[in-house]
Amino acid sequence: MAVHTLQWHITHRCNLRCAHCYQGDYSAEMPREVMYEALEKYLRFLRRRGMTGQVNLTGGEPMAHGEFWALSRKIRESGLRLGVLTNGTMIGRDEAECFRALEPAFVQVSLDGTRQTHDAIRGQGAFDRALAGIDCLKRAGVRVNVSFTAQKGNYRDFAALARVCRRHRVDKLWWDRVVTPDVGKLALSTGEFRELCLEAARQRRRCRRPDGTSMVNCGRALQFLATGRLCKYHCGAGGDLLILLADGALMPCRRLPFIIGNLSDGELDDVIEASPIMRDLARADIPADCVKCEHVFRCRGGARCVTYAQTGRWDARDVNCWAGE
Ligand SMILES: C[S@@+](CC[C@H](N)C(=O)[O-])C[C@H]1O[C@@H](n2cnc3c(N)ncnc32)[C@H](O)[C@@H]1O
Ligand code: SF4
Ligand code: SF4
Repeated sequence: MAVHTLQWHITHRCNLRCAHCYQGDYSAEMPREVMYEALEKYLRFLRRRGMTGQVNLTGGEPMAHGEFWALSRKIRESGLRLGVLTNGTMIGRDEAECFRALEPAFVQVSLDGTRQTHDAIRGQGAFDRALAGIDCLKRAGVRVNVSFTAQKGNYRDFAALARVCRRHRVDKLWWDRVVTPDVGKLALSTGEFRELCLEAARQRRRCRRPDGTSMVNCGRALQFLATGRLCKYHCGAGGDLLILLADGALMPCRRLPFIIGNLSDGELDDVIEASPIMRDLARADIPADCVKCEHVFRCRGGARCVTYAQTGRWDARDVNCWAGE
């Protein structure tokens, strides 16, 4: 059965204030009763489409919401897959045991470099707390993915971070570029991005397991240019991905600043079908600058969010693409 993904920002509150965070407002929190109505709505949506669902709970910091555990249990009891995207600072032995009982597809913890770099971005002590959380999860037998958001101040930490992740038995280290209009201080230049892609491809080879898989994932936009593997990535916005924010707003992707409606507007299908931007994203042509590219039918233009943030256009060739150079 086809899988639909709901990325559900149950709260915008957070115990950290990371330098690159796209969260503009840190106050909204979804009320308890709205949460369960939202879940029912999502189940109806899946039934109509004949799909199964993967719900990724996130925030803000999702574990800061008082209803986090009860909602997680309800999601699992409803037959849906569960993922959790967290900064990892609120996970001790008890929480890890609760996660184990939930049998989530994964718990994703953000690590934005080695201790010094991570703490410069995320605040003093954040690295040690996240790593302690990862250790508790691993001891409880929970699958742990680490997410690395690449920016100017941390991209050279990738190799060292891969070593840390290997030592701590992380299942998957995946990474992607920061989405920001700040090309001066935050966003990677094309040269920096290329350097990181090559390093990540090296680490991918180094972290290969006996069964041929690797801890390091290079499956996001344009990363295939360095691994030489076929491109599997395509942007999910307008397709089988929906974002629900804590104030009920619905978006095609958290990293593209388009609100298509609100949970209170009606059934999810109706909101999606009435949205011109969802339609445009789903039907978009290949960017004009990509038509001659040998990778075009698989890549289709790279990361629309990165390009939109820097140029105001999501239907153009990825700003960091070096194919053919
Ligand atoms: C918004 S956080 C929410 C979950 C949790 N608080 C955390 O930090 O992992 C989810 C992920 O989005 C990433 N993120 C935040 N702002 C971003 C941006 N401007 N561009 C790309 N990724 C961003 C974070 O680094 C984190 O890995
Ligand atoms: S921990 Fe996550 S939500 Fe909180 S400020 Fe950092 S990136 Fe944003
Ligand atoms: S030219 Fe376009 S299609 Fe080809 S790799 Fe670059 S972004 Fe992707």
